[in-house]
Amino acid sequence: MYKILSKRELAQGTVVENVISAPRIAKKAKPGQFVILRVNETGERIPLTMADTDPEKGTITLIYQVVGKTTALMKTLNVGDGYQDIAGPLGKPTHIEKVGTVVCIGGGTGIAVLHPITRALKQAGNKVYGICGARTKDLLIMEDAMAAASTECTLCTDDGSCGYHGFGTDLLKQILDREKVDLVVGIGPVPMMKFVCSVTLPYNVRTLVSLNAIMVDGTGMCGCCRATVGGKTAFACVDGPEFDGHQVDFDELTKRLRGYADMERQSMELFEHKCSCK
Ligand SMILES: Cc1cc2nc3c(=O)[nH]c(=O)nc-3n(C[C@H](O)[C@H](O)[C@H](O)COP(=O)(O)OP(=O)(O)OC[C@H]3O[C@@H](n4cnc5c(N)ncnc54)[C@H](O)[C@@H]3O)c2cc1C
Ligand code: FES
Repeated sequence: MYKILSKRELAQGTVVENVISAPRIAKKAKPGQFVILRVNETGERIPLTMADTDPEKGTITLIYQVVGKTTALMKTLNVGDGYQDIAGPLGKPTHIEKVGTVVCIGGGTGIAVLHPITRALKQAGNKVYGICGARTKDLLIMEDAMAAASTECTLCTDDGSCGYHGFGTDLLKQILDREKVDLVVGIGPVPMMKFVCSVTLPYNVRTLVSLNAIMVDGTGMCGCCRATVGGKTAFACVDGPEFDGHQVDFDELTKRLRGYADMERQSMELFEHKCSCK
């Protein structure tokens, strides 16, 4: 049992932060890695990135958006409750090195995934521009943490309620127009990552994305998380989750993410109407 030590609701309760006791995972985890957890013994396995870790205290921080049955069930857990099992750290860590100037652009809960990577890139001596975007002010998360993790951080909202009025990709383009950028890391919803890649392609800037493919075992055996990268099949759980965004077939990934939509909807309806269905 992995005990929940703290719980905080962000973004009007649509996003939840949990600090969890997981000493062995906290000791080994590196930026870019994720865990797969089950809420209880009949629960499905879902992947979540570690937004932070504290090896001293033996804790990991997970930030999740409530989108379906499992994340809704997770939101019902409180401090003192625990998760049945958490497997990790999984996936390849982000390759961190000094490359010069980096732009880290995140959207929605992608900002939670981006945070440890941004911090590590700055610690490695890079000049790091952080860009954090959301639809509206109340949905922005981790503004202070991203400000501390970057050299310079700009917020933006689609409706102009906070920071720059418009998409983060507008700000990315402004930076690319005015100075040499050596690396872009873009993490967020699939359409946003696709758009980030189309902006950076003409500038020929290496662009990393983190693929949120549906996962089951996280070991490269079930094939659930397969994606086409550079015309070849890759498994997001063991070959990624980070990939060269200019090589990713985003349209295929979008189709695969929708593959279980009917079952996900039914499961959520059962959960909402018969709360005993856990
Ligand atoms: C490596 C990795 C790291 C992730 N890290 C985070 C994280 O830090 N925070 C976070 O909030 N989410 C993260 N995700 C996405 C998270 O795993 C899904 O949101 C979760 O599995 C949904 O489960 P559910 O039962 O609540 O919803 P479901 O009922 O399974 O799905 C509800 C809706 O969410 C969509 N969805 C389902 N799975 C995914 C997915 N993997 N990615 C995007 N949309 C999905 C479905 O298409 C559907 O529309 C990560 C995914 C991966 C692969
Ligand atoms: S999750 Fe099973 S192969 Fe990646």
